[in-house]
Amino acid sequence: MNATAQLAAAVVPAAGRGERLGPGAPKALRELGGVPLLVHAVRALARSRAVGLVVVAAPADGVPEVVALLDSHGLDGKDVRVVAGGATRQESVRLGLAAIPADTAVVLVHDAARPLVPVEVVDAVAAAVRAGAEAVVPAVPLADTVKRVEPQPAGGPEPVLDTPDRASLRAVQTPQGFLRATLHEVHEKALAEEAGGGLPPVTDDAGLVERFGGRVVVVPGHEEAFKVTRPLDLVLAEAVLARRRASDGF
Ligand code: CTP
Ligand code: MG
Repeated sequence: MNATAQLAAAVVPAAGRGERLGPGAPKALRELGGVPLLVHAVRALARSRAVGLVVVAAPADGVPEVVALLDSHGLDGKDVRVVAGGATRQESVRLGLAAIPADTAVVLVHDAARPLVPVEVVDAVAAAVRAGAEAVVPAVPLADTVKRVEPQPAGGPEPVLDTPDRASLRAVQTPQGFLRATLHEVHEKALAEEAGGGLPPVTDDAGLVERFGGRVVVVPGHEEAFKVTRPLDLVLAEAVLARRRASDGF
């Protein structure tokens, strides 16, 4: 194993349109404090001494633009590569994973849409995989009570089925960490199933590990690792960034 393989590699799915954020550029290229979300996310990973390589899955029609964008921002001398992403997040991760050397032991998957994840979370997830877990997700307790409902196609009132005990629920974040071999195996299995008209794609990678019977563990996430999904999230992200810049010249 060479020196680089001992470091984790990170895949950054960044190929989504950002429908819920509203009209504009692809979400990963939208700006926060004058810097694209994707650049914030890649910097957050690059800041970790556990990470040696970052592979970005860019919008398929935007690869040259993303390469130029990353080139124009200093990224701590880390090896950053760009591949074309896919039609779903799951496909984008699979395509990014394919660009990671097979002798890499640990892989992190981090949403471009989580620009403000603290480096401590990145380090803790990588360390938990190193310590023996095959799949690790950072998560936080829920503030709201959650109800399971029967969705109504016509948009009418939704009957409540039940209320899961909030104490046992967690909202999961990224980066999620995996043994590379495990993540590769579950993505290949899911692809084979899809070809046979199988289950729909998952919204997080740990979900695939669970689907095929693997063991996933949760470590503490961080409130600032939230995902920029709706317009209000951008307002919050701008406020968090402004506070960081004021307090430590971030
Ligand atoms: N993603 C991706 N490829 C896709 C879809 C999503 O790489 N085909 C990425 C997004 O760029 C984002 C992450 O997966 O960094 C999390 O997805 P989400 O927050 O749902 O982003 P979007 O799919 O872009 O947003 P929306 O669902 O509102 O359209
Ligand atoms: Mg999406």
